[in-house]
Amino acid sequence: MNRLTNLLGVKYPIIQGGMIWCSGWKLASAVSNAGGLGLIGSGSMTPDILCEHIDKCFSATNKPFGVNIPLIFSHAEEFIEIVRKKKVHIVVSSAGNPAKYTQLLQSDGIKVLHVIANLKSALKCESVGVDAIVAEGVEAGGHNGREETTSMVLTPMIVDSVKIPVVTAGGVYDGKSMHAAFSLGASGVQIGSRFAISSESSANQLFKEEVIKSGDGDTQLALKKLIAVRLLKNEFYKQIKDREDSGASADELLNLLG
Ligand SMILES: Cc1cc2nc3c(=O)[nH]c(=O)nc-3n(C[C@H](O)[C@H](O)[C@H](O)COP(=O)(O)O)c2cc1C
Repeated sequence: MNRLTNLLGVKYPIIQGGMIWCSGWKLASAVSNAGGLGLIGSGSMTPDILCEHIDKCFSATNKPFGVNIPLIFSHAEEFIEIVRKKKVHIVVSSAGNPAKYTQLLQSDGIKVLHVIANLKSALKCESVGVDAIVAEGVEAGGHNGREETTSMVLTPMIVDSVKIPVVTAGGVYDGKSMHAAFSLGASGVQIGSRFAISSESSANQLFKEEVIKSGDGDTQLALKKLIAVRLLKNEFYKQIKDREDSGASADELLNLLG
């Protein structure tokens, strides 16, 4: 038991990161049943679908689980109301201002964690009363901080600067990397990519195979003009890289993404 497991009411200090298209009720409930904290990734869901996944998760586990809500999306407010109404135990918010909903959620007894990638955002989280911080280094799959700070550097910097528990995300996938995070002062880990390729993940099988096949140097951070994201170096990545190298504007890149 440590500060994080006490806070979340889980056996192991392992959070399965919320992941669009990957982490629905099946993955979240499997992780929670196994003693970690499973998160439903709401970013790719409509309100109806989110409600369905929350209901199914409550049916599949009696352990705590959470919902990840990227605050950048226009439907974030509606999702906040849904998790309040459904009495979800934990919210992990990301990509936005933690001041907006933290106290509202906490007034319903919901624990709030927020994902950050730099010191300024971590201090902001603490000042607005967030319960724990997920410090996500540049190694992470999915969207990423523009600063490109590694988990190795970010974790101890945040641990030394705040009093609330810190969770390391980015590049953690086994016992050795978990051990490293704890050595740096983290109270837990948030793991994404390793769970995205699990059988309970709802990601497309071809995506899972590509991730499993990928090796050293096969991903790259791109699209920093929009919102930085780690891409597999496939044909689509090459198109993006060509456009970025030739100075494409944010709008042009947005068009390419569709
Ligand atoms: C396919 C994929 C989708 C992701 N989607 C989200 C998301 O919707 N919201 C979010 O806060 N983080 C998202 N993440 C980040 C994860 O929650 C987690 O913090 C990150 O994957 C940890 O790094 P790792 O991939 O090295 O384990 C995503 C990651 C991946 C790989």
